[in-house]
Amino acid sequence: MSVLKITGGRSLSGSLRVQGAKNSALPLLAASVMTEGLSVFRNCPHLTDVEATVAILRHVGCRVYEEGDALYVDASGPISPEVPDALMRRMRSSVIFLGALLGRCGEAVLSLPGGCELGPRPVDLHLLALRTLGAEVEVSGGRLCCRAAGLKGGHIVLPSVSVGATENAVLAAVRATGSTVITGAAREPEIADLQEYLRACGALVTGAGSGVIRVQGVKKLRGAEKRVMPDRIAAATYLAACASAGGRVRLYDVCPAHMVPVLQALERMGCGVTAGENLIALERRGALRSPGPIITRPYPGFPTDAQPPLMAASLKADGVTVMIETIFESRYRHVPALRGMGADIRAAGKTAVIRGVDALHGTEVLASDLRGGAALAVAALSAEGETVIRGMEHVDRGYEDMAGALSALGAEAVLEHEGDADDG
Ligand code: EPZ
Repeated sequence: MSVLKITGGRSLSGSLRVQGAKNSALPLLAASVMTEGLSVFRNCPHLTDVEATVAILRHVGCRVYEEGDALYVDASGPISPEVPDALMRRMRSSVIFLGALLGRCGEAVLSLPGGCELGPRPVDLHLLALRTLGAEVEVSGGRLCCRAAGLKGGHIVLPSVSVGATENAVLAAVRATGSTVITGAAREPEIADLQEYLRACGALVTGAGSGVIRVQGVKKLRGAEKRVMPDRIAAATYLAACASAGGRVRLYDVCPAHMVPVLQALERMGCGVTAGENLIALERRGALRSPGPIITRPYPGFPTDAQPPLMAASLKADGVTVMIETIFESRYRHVPALRGMGADIRAAGKTAVIRGVDALHGTEVLASDLRGGAALAVAALSAEGETVIRGMEHVDRGYEDMAGALSALGAEAVLEHEGDADDG
């Protein structure tokens, strides 16, 4: 097990290249199983969730290898439609293999993804989409079995916004017979990234980002090359880190257009934000102000994944910040640990009220989930003394070498593997 030790009180400075996006890399890798060729993914982040996805790709029959800065997936051989429970349980978003395997094999057999730290995570919208295209769905003993002699295009109406269900709908539709229209589709930029890759593979998909996606089914897909888009949530986290600690940082290989509500919130807090084509600079010299109310929404609204890091950056801000979490039922699991560092937060149901305090103090805390863990690191940067963050396995799912990234920005941050310290 590893622990992240951060000594707060140092302002940040320097530049950081932003990693490729976890929430794009995972669906892209799953989609590659639909092609009967070799795909090359550049800027693919080194994360434990990517390792879990690669394990599934290998299990179903793909050859996967790394060369230079690229990850190669060869899906030209026979593909098995089955994903064992153990691999499914490692990562909730493996449900994305449902549409991909169904599209490639006409069948997909995998476990129902369990709930996660963020609350119940049903898959009813995923199944609605697949049933609309003619799939038969059977759920028994926690196993999900989808079969379709031949998927047929149709009109998928998603009654509420789901990133994963939209991605599964697109993946199932690209090799279905005829055309499909998906209305109520999620508009996240990661879906546009998936569309770009699928089009390079020969798929006929349009409309990603608009809420209405149109797909004309094709018989076969070839392999293709794709550069994974920058991670807007990792970028938001490192900007929140600078807002929390103070100083001036420059992020490059990032897409400011994907981050408007986050950048606006940081500006309302009194940070100077400048954005260029693929770079963002943030400067925080004076006192922080509350960003005002923050309500999480599907894209292009304020991203739920940036809520915990922004909350951590607002703990010492003047005034009262009200956050309303509309996407997940329990996304305040990081609050008790932040209160343990001296924060004044009252959270009940969807609402959290943060009153700015003068000081935070370092202590030992446990990360409860991926973004909650990131929030602890952001808070630790402005706390007095050392904070020891356990549960880094959560953080490693979505951040490439967080200790290295924070150190590159001038923080006193060290990752220790349990037992390291005893080696004296
Ligand atoms: C994606 O999860 C992201 N994960 C999440 O990021 C992100 O928080 C979420 O979208 C929202 O933006 C990946 O892309 C791998 P949803 P996903 O389906 O697709 C409900 C992170 O920290 N719902 O859009 O699983 C669901 O319970 C992670 O990087 C149904 O009710 O999210 C939730 O309340 C965390 N039925 C809401 O919709 C369904 O069939 C949004 O979920 C599907 C979802």
